[in-house]
Amino acid sequence: MGILRSPELLTTERLQLRPMGIADATDIFRYASDPEATRFMTFARQHTIAEAESFARRCAQCWQDGSAFPWRISERATGAFIGAIELRLKPPKADFGYILCPPHWRQGFASEAATAVVAWAIAQPEIFRVWATCHPDNIASARVLEKSGLSREGRLACWGAAAESGRAGGRFPRLCGDATTRLAIVRLMKAAPATA
Ligand SMILES: CC(C)(COP(=O)(O)OP(=O)(O)OC[C@H]1O[C@@H](n2cnc3c(N)ncnc32)[C@H](O)[C@@H]1OP(=O)(O)O)[C@@H](O)C(=O)NCCC(=O)NCCS
Repeated sequence: MGILRSPELLTTERLQLRPMGIADATDIFRYASDPEATRFMTFARQHTIAEAESFARRCAQCWQDGSAFPWRISERATGAFIGAIELRLKPPKADFGYILCPPHWRQGFASEAATAVVAWAIAQPEIFRVWATCHPDNIASARVLEKSGLSREGRLACWGAAAESGRAGGRFPRLCGDATTRLAIVRLMKAAPATA
């Protein structure tokens, strides 16, 4: 069996997903430099286009080496850039994350994109579990995960804490308090095989 790879193109009713690459730095910067959009993200907010260019190069590299599959999300009708979603395939598991530009929030786009990515991933014979995490206060993201078919399994203490990142404030440098070290985790599993 070959190495599992995501499809380059995914299409939903309103959205098109295609590989994020070097040409996408300006669009990446639109969400990655936004304080509201990056509030719950585990990466530091970008301040220069050079940082976005570096991330764009990383995206292209990921598609090449298969370590992750970051798509840019655009609206089919207008071609407008909406945001990004990334799937990481580590059979038997796969995990994913996403971020949208604020003007496109609350129109069902994240749920639509996540549903398509989850459906593709869980349909692969090599994948038994699709999972994602979000900050406990990130109500919108938890809802997106539920709408894409995942279910809440628990709360992880000290997940991605300061010790891991080496940064004060851990992986949520813009948040403080005990919640910085905990994440709700939501997962989708294939049904257990029937026993005789
Ligand atoms: C989280 C995020 C992707 C949601 O995108 P979106 O396209 O607005 O989400 P949807 O429109 O698909 O909404 C999904 C559900 O969340 C709800 N929702 C969306 N924003 C909400 C908010 N601010 N507060 C409460 N509920 C919210 C919607 O009502 C919908 O639930 P419903 O169908 O039961 O009404 C978007 O807010 C975002 O990019 N945030 C910053 C990045 C981020 O947090 N990424 C996830 C990291 S784990």
